[in-house]
Amino acid sequence: MKLEILPSLLAADYGRLSDEILRAEASGADALHLDIMDSHFVPNLSFGPDFVALSRRVAPAFFRNVHLMLSRPDLYIDVFADAGAQTIQIHVEADCDIHAGLGRIRARGLRAAVALNPETPVERIAPYLDEVDEVLVMTVHPGYGGQKFIAGCLPKLEWLRAKRPALDLMVDGGVNAATAVEAVRAGANQLVAGSYLFGKPDMAAAVADLRERCVRS
Ligand code: DX5
Ligand code: ZN
Repeated sequence: MKLEILPSLLAADYGRLSDEILRAEASGADALHLDIMDSHFVPNLSFGPDFVALSRRVAPAFFRNVHLMLSRPDLYIDVFADAGAQTIQIHVEADCDIHAGLGRIRARGLRAAVALNPETPVERIAPYLDEVDEVLVMTVHPGYGGQKFIAGCLPKLEWLRAKRPALDLMVDGGVNAATAVEAVRAGANQLVAGSYLFGKPDMAAAVADLRERCVRS
């Protein structure tokens, strides 16, 4: 499966946002991960559709992966689709009809994904596996960057990989050179990394190093 690396814009220097988006694109990463938070679903606010639109304007060819940490993601699918999202990820714990939400994302011509918090059993995803292009397994409690990777979530990746050998499986939270390898061994093929990648003066070298370690694993 194709290994993909996605820097999370949450960890960027917001005073130089355009440059940070271009730095992520030039690093050789596969897509930009944009974390949208509403202070209800998670205890934090981040940014909204204008950041997605900015990413599209600054780096039109850099794929935009949008992670909606919202209690009502269904109310914002069109807003983020209009802003330039190319994958939309909604949480299985959200307060809406998940089947309908995924259907709406696909009806807009986008890749649809369902995300899973650390405390949620992986079986909750089962009813949606035929309606998604990828699954996002959270390896931190969502809301903040820079947290420690929860290795107890790795069996979820193993379970999903056994059930769906060809499905894209993404891991998000606490990913670094060591935990990325653990995640890939468990079945992940898409890695989100925020503080680890944006904290590196040479992001391109860090992306190449991550890729090499994971391919070798
Ligand atoms: C957490 C977000 C993550 C976050 C990852 O709520 O969903 O995407 O940006 O940050 P790091 O890689 O620093 O754990
Ligand atoms: Zn995220």
